[in-house]
This record gives sequence, C-alpha cells and structure tokens, in this order.
Amino acid sequence: MCPGQDIGWKGTMKPVLGIETSCDETAAAVVDGEGRILAETILSQLAEHAPFGGVVPEIAARAHLHYLSDQVCQTMAKAGLAFTDLGGVAATSGPGLIGGLIVGSQFGKGVAIANDLPFVAVNHLEAHALTARLPGLVEGGAPFPYLLFLLSGGHSQCIAVTGVGQHVRLGGTVDDAAGEAFDKVAKLLRLDWPGGPALETIAMDGDPARYKFPRPMIRRPGCELSFSGLKTAVAQTVARQGPDLTREHRADIAASFQRAVVDVLADRAVNAMDMMRDRFPAANLLVVAGGVASNAAVRTGLNEAAQSRGFRLIAPPIRLCSDNAVMVAWVGVERLRLGWSDGLDFDARPRWPLDALEAIPE
Ligand code: KG4
Ligand code: ZN
Repeated sequence: MCPGQDIGWKGTMKPVLGIETSCDETAAAVVDGEGRILAETILSQLAEHAPFGGVVPEIAARAHLHYLSDQVCQTMAKAGLAFTDLGGVAATSGPGLIGGLIVGSQFGKGVAIANDLPFVAVNHLEAHALTARLPGLVEGGAPFPYLLFLLSGGHSQCIAVTGVGQHVRLGGTVDDAAGEAFDKVAKLLRLDWPGGPALETIAMDGDPARYKFPRPMIRRPGCELSFSGLKTAVAQTVARQGPDLTREHRADIAASFQRAVVDVLADRAVNAMDMMRDRFPAANLLVVAGGVASNAAVRTGLNEAAQSRGFRLIAPPIRLCSDNAVMVAWVGVERLRLGWSDGLDFDARPRWPLDALEAIPE
C-alpha cells in the first residue's frame, strides 16, 4: 500500500484526464478545474459479454487493453489538448475487476510519468459519491454534507458524504445490491442482458399491482436493505407459471417487482434522511448515484421521499449515473486542488471500501 502525499500545490487546477475501466465500460474524459466537461468518450463492451449473459472478467480486461489507448487519444483530441496541458491524471484503481483496474491504472500512471504529472488513484465509489459536486448539476456543486444513496450493480449503501475522502456509512444491503436484484430477476424473466434496463422497459407494459411481492425491511428502524426475499418470491411466481409464462405475465411480474423495489428504497431513504438530520441538522440534499439511479420509477419514488422530508433530490443525468470517466476525472480535480495525489506504486485494489479512504483536510 502506498499512502497519498501532499503535493503542496493548491492553486488553480488545470484540466484532469480521467480513466474508468473497473467493469465493462472503457471510458475516458477530460474535466477542467471548474468542473466543465471538455471531452468524454465511453465504449461499452455489451457485445463482447452479451453471449455469456454477464461480464466475463478476462474478456473485459483484454477489451480494455485493446481499446483504452485509442480511447484516451480520441478524448484528448476532442478536448483539443496535449498531455502537457493537463494538471493530472486520475484512474479508477478499485474496487472492481482486477484485470481492468490494472489496465486503467497502469495506463494512467504511464501518462503521468511520461508527462511529469501527478497521479490520482480513484476509488470508484467515491467517484459516484462526488458526481453531485460537478457544478453543472447543482449551482456551484452539491455542498457537504449530503446524503448519498448509492445503487449500483455491486453496492447499495446510504452514506453521509462529509468531505473529500470523508464518508459515514449509515446503512446498506445485508444481501444483494439493488442492481444485482434487478439483474437476477431479469434473468428469471429471460430478459436480455444487462437486466436492469431491460426490466425497466418491459415493466412499462405491466401492471405493478398484479403481484403482491414482499417489501423486505420496510418500516424497520435504520436504513439496512435486503432483496433476497423479494427475489425468491419472484422466482416462486415464475416457477408457478411454468411453461405458461406469457409476455403479459413477465411484464406484470417486472412491474410488480420494480414497484416493490421502489417502495423499499423510498422507505429506507426516509429513515436515512432522518438519521442524516440527527447527525447533520443542516443537511437537505439526497443524492442518488449508480446504475439503478437511471431507473425512472426509482427516481420518482426517491423524489417523493425526499420531498416528504424537506430534502431535495439530486439525480445526475443518466449517463453520469452509470459508470463513466467524467466522475473519475472530477475526483482527480477535487483531490488535486486540495493538494493530494497518490504514489506511482499504488496497487489496484479489487476491494476498497469507502471507509478505508483517508480524510483530506480542506
Ligand atoms: O453503477 P453501474 O453502472 O456499475 C457498477 O458500478 O455496478 O451499475 C450497474 C447496475 C446493473 O446491475 C444494472 O442492471 C443496473 O445498474 N441498472 C439498472 C438500470 N440501468 C442500469 N437497474 C434498473 N433500471 C435501470 N434502468
Ligand atoms: Zn459504478
């Protein structure tokens, strides 16, 4: 492990190159010191993984290796910048699939060494967490502290974000992540991969009141989440229909499942907002992030929950909810302008919980 270091420079930030390769998106972006997006490119590996019904780590790593170099060059060309115009390079260095993380972080370090630039090893969860601070989303960027509801394929957590590198976990899932539940139910319904968006699409044609699925954890204190009981209930319903499972059934099951998830998330968000207010009385922002935050029903449910507690919901545009490199470049800006960078001996970490980050003093 290599500790970060104070690079002693707290002046105006030059643009930062961000690289994201933690899962199945090969993405690069350049963001300037004021949070303006100068260029962004993203290459999804959907076609490579679709035949396997999920992300195959080895295929993902090889695809990142194949595409990343061109992707970065194209992004720099779009931004109209040379590497020497940059203030630093930021690359996702964990958590995620180790092969992709190694490709992205080593590439980023290479650009940093060759151009004598500082390197920032970005925690992917912090990148989702700080997206709301991009000045374009909230006037001047979301001020600390705010409540983050992170809903991705691998994580479902309620977190008080109190500063750069500063997070207090209020609760999270005790079993599946929200995105994982969407993906598993989509598989049961024999929908295309990736499951979340396919399930949302078919749910539009369904009746959300047809199946009374359980709402795990609802009305319990705290903001822990659980989805495995709900998933099992869906599996039993699908099994009961057997070969008679029509498209109409599948649409109704999808809509009823989605309604149950939204009810659970809204209930948990209300408790999380109360917990947030207890600790930080001035807090009034609920930020949602991660792939599941692109779901329209989830956004509507969380918006209503936020309003019921006098909070404002900040939901980034859909392209910034799922994995992207803008959020990675932005963490680079946030950290570098506080005088923070990482050593070139920083090893990529497949596991890297938010609580392991060091607080960066303002
Ligand atoms: O944040 P993300 O892009 O990658 C991770 O860091 O995990 O999240 C991906 C997850 C997947 O489980 C995907 O099915 C889910 O987000 N997802 C959705 C939607 N779009 C993506 N779930 C429900 N509705 C959607 N529209
Ligand atoms: Zn993510």
